[in-house]
Amino acid sequence: PRTIFSGIQPTGTPHLGNYLGALQNWVRLQEEATATGDSVIFSIVGLHAITMPQNPQQLRVERKDMLASLLAIGLDPERSILFHQDQVQEHAELAWYLNCLTSVGRLNRMTTWKSKLATARGSSDAAESAGGGEEGALALGLFAYPVLQAADILLYRTQQRATHVPVGEDQVQHLELSRDIADLFNRTYKQKLFPPPQHIITPTKRVLSLRDPTSKMSKSAPDASSRILITDSPDVVRSKIKKAVTDGETQMSYDPEKRPGVSNLLGIASALMGRDDPALLAEDLNKEGGGGGALKNAVSDAIIEALRPIQERLQRIQNEPAYLAEVERKGREKARERAGPTMEKVRRLVGLSD
Ligand code: TYM
Repeated sequence: PRTIFSGIQPTGTPHLGNYLGALQNWVRLQEEATATGDSVIFSIVGLHAITMPQNPQQLRVERKDMLASLLAIGLDPERSILFHQDQVQEHAELAWYLNCLTSVGRLNRMTTWKSKLATARGSSDAAESAGGGEEGALALGLFAYPVLQAADILLYRTQQRATHVPVGEDQVQHLELSRDIADLFNRTYKQKLFPPPQHIITPTKRVLSLRDPTSKMSKSAPDASSRILITDSPDVVRSKIKKAVTDGETQMSYDPEKRPGVSNLLGIASALMGRDDPALLAEDLNKEGGGGGALKNAVSDAIIEALRPIQERLQRIQNEPAYLAEVERKGREKARERAGPTMEKVRRLVGLSD
């Protein structure tokens, strides 16, 4: 049996990229776990969220909402360990140990850091007045973000068995780093404590922005119609899909390079319809005729259909604060049971405990 671990930031309602790139896969892995005996662990990563400025009042609400969303998409606290990272102190503790091994040069090469840096440079006047040039406005915690992510994953180690991490494509570089850090730790302290983690990705590993299909769908893009939230009503879904950027061609074809907009919609629809091949969906649509309009109808229908049960569950769960609190408490306890023994080993290996 494997250990499956993944995380999501509580910075707003999950969108279709989160759902198709990761969350839907989490539910599938949970379902399989009954047969495989895998342990399945999912974390809401508050400590990652605060690497960028957050409004505390809003964060307090959003981290609760995220737990409700994860339950609504089908995660089951009886079968998965579902917990808040910020409630299990071992995450921050292991991150510190790993910070003391990871070189600044290695972290400088992370693309997420580089792009945040580029954005900060774009508004370097503000950064300068914050003191210290371009990097001045960015937090040290943001720089160390991927090390904390490695700590999340490595804490739930099992002897000799790699932890498997279901994520979207944007997290693959972070996973490479976590393998390097695991290896570095093992070599430094001459013990194979951390087997190298592996990523698991879906066919919809990169869902694109509806407004700009050269970039990924993201929580932070200023245009709200670039993403579909799992809480969007049928009307909102239809209007966002209607506005989605495609091309003028009447024949549909799956060609992510040349036709990113159309291919993105085909990918979304086929994933939600449980069809393996977006190219076959394109052929079916061509047989029916109707061009881009028909595609948009099909995508909207598939999204609305998939979101309906999730939204029904979400409404029910949000009216049960006592249940949510109980899930939170149990998750934290189970996560601590697993994380504690790893930290004891780490402290001993490093020389900070007998
Ligand atoms: P986050 O919160 O940005 O996203 C959660 C998951 O959604 C995936 N995802 C996407 N997949 C496909 N297309 C998209 N447009 C898209 N946008 C987001 C992400 O790949 C991710 O799997 N650093 C992580 C959180 C984290 C974590 C961890 C993940 C912290 N510790 C340990 C795994 C293991 C993040 O910011 O995810």
